[in-house]
Amino acid sequence: MIEIKHLSKTFSLKGRTVDAVRDVSLTVQDGDIYGVIGYSGAGKSTLVRCLNLLETPDSGTLTVNDSGLITVENGKIYHGENKQPMKEKQLNAMRRHIGMIFQHFNLLDRSTVFENVAYPLKYSGMSRAEISARVMEMLQLVDLTEKRDAYPSQLSGGQKQRVAIARALASHPKVLLSDEATSALDPDATESILALLRSLNEKLGLTIIMITHEMAVIKSICRHVAVMEDGRVVEEGSVYDIFAHPKQNITKHFVASASALNRVDKLLRDDSPLVRVNEGELLVRLLFSRDSVGDSVISRISRDFGVSISIVLASVEVLEGAPLGGMVAVLKGDEESVKSALDWLNKHHVEVEVLRRG
Ligand SMILES: Nc1ncnc2c1ncn2[C@@H]1O[C@H](COP(=O)(O)OP(=O)(O)OP(=O)(O)O)[C@@H](O)[C@H]1O
Ligand SMILES: [Mg+2]
Repeated sequence: MIEIKHLSKTFSLKGRTVDAVRDVSLTVQDGDIYGVIGYSGAGKSTLVRCLNLLETPDSGTLTVNDSGLITVENGKIYHGENKQPMKEKQLNAMRRHIGMIFQHFNLLDRSTVFENVAYPLKYSGMSRAEISARVMEMLQLVDLTEKRDAYPSQLSGGQKQRVAIARALASHPKVLLSDEATSALDPDATESILALLRSLNEKLGLTIIMITHEMAVIKSICRHVAVMEDGRVVEEGSVYDIFAHPKQNITKHFVASASALNRVDKLLRDDSPLVRVNEGELLVRLLFSRDSVGDSVISRISRDFGVSISIVLASVEVLEGAPLGGMVAVLKGDEESVKSALDWLNKHHVEVEVLRRG
């Protein structure tokens, strides 16, 4: 388990201070894939760099798996319940259990794939034969054995990121921190790296913290997510709940950015014929979640209320095994029937938003 409590970090730069992380508390369970999303400058990278103490926080406590309690006061790091100054050796042991990958891979250009992956094992006390066996095991894990003698410049972006993942996992860490690891990749390479991370999470029970500014990445592999804004975690929960019921404006923004139904906003702006309504018609956005099942809703309102429904846009996805999505549609019927249909939808956990009235 990873537990962060009241973590803060302020930078001072030329007399100006930036509160990069403000009083953040978070818990990540073993084996979870936990997303951290936020706009540029929100403090995401600083937060994860504090997790392996690459960045020393100003204050707060953290525990990463069996690291023991780490307390930071005034930028000084203490270890254990009785708060002894943390020794270099304890710090290194802690870091060995945390792997990290980055947006720009950070590979050694003059070293081969094999040497890159072997690098973190250099001072581990392992013999050459043990290191060689471990590197080959890692290359197999990321499906790159045939590239062992290639140099980074001879690899595609996706392959470079695979090398970085193999290197991060070479010391058999229990936790992998991923800082925008897919943002420099094309969609296919992104998909394959996400699939690899998902399989490592399942196969090795690896806990993954995924930093990203793309909701699609969160949706694709995370189970929990924290939304960061201006150094704070402003919303946190299961990915399904966050997507189904975002509360903060920034979260609504992120959720909308990943929703196909949002294309309706552009259609409305452009006054597309698709979203024009005649007198007595109503353009609505209906949102379904696991408590409301889409197709029976449609047949009910046309059958029981005599309201016709024509679909403009529809998109339903499966998140955590449950359906989530909705449609934009034009409702047509007499005023009383449409009103009863909308009331019925509300009662059945379908969120209704009227976009246009004819
Ligand atoms: N070493 C540093 N010195 C001074 N200010 C810093 C330093 N590192 C980060 N900051 C500032 O702290 C804030 C948070 O930065 P951080 O890199 O954590 O954001 P981020 O959420 O990772 O952004 P991005 O999505 O662009 O990577 C920013 O205002 C940044 O300018
Ligand atoms: Mg960053």
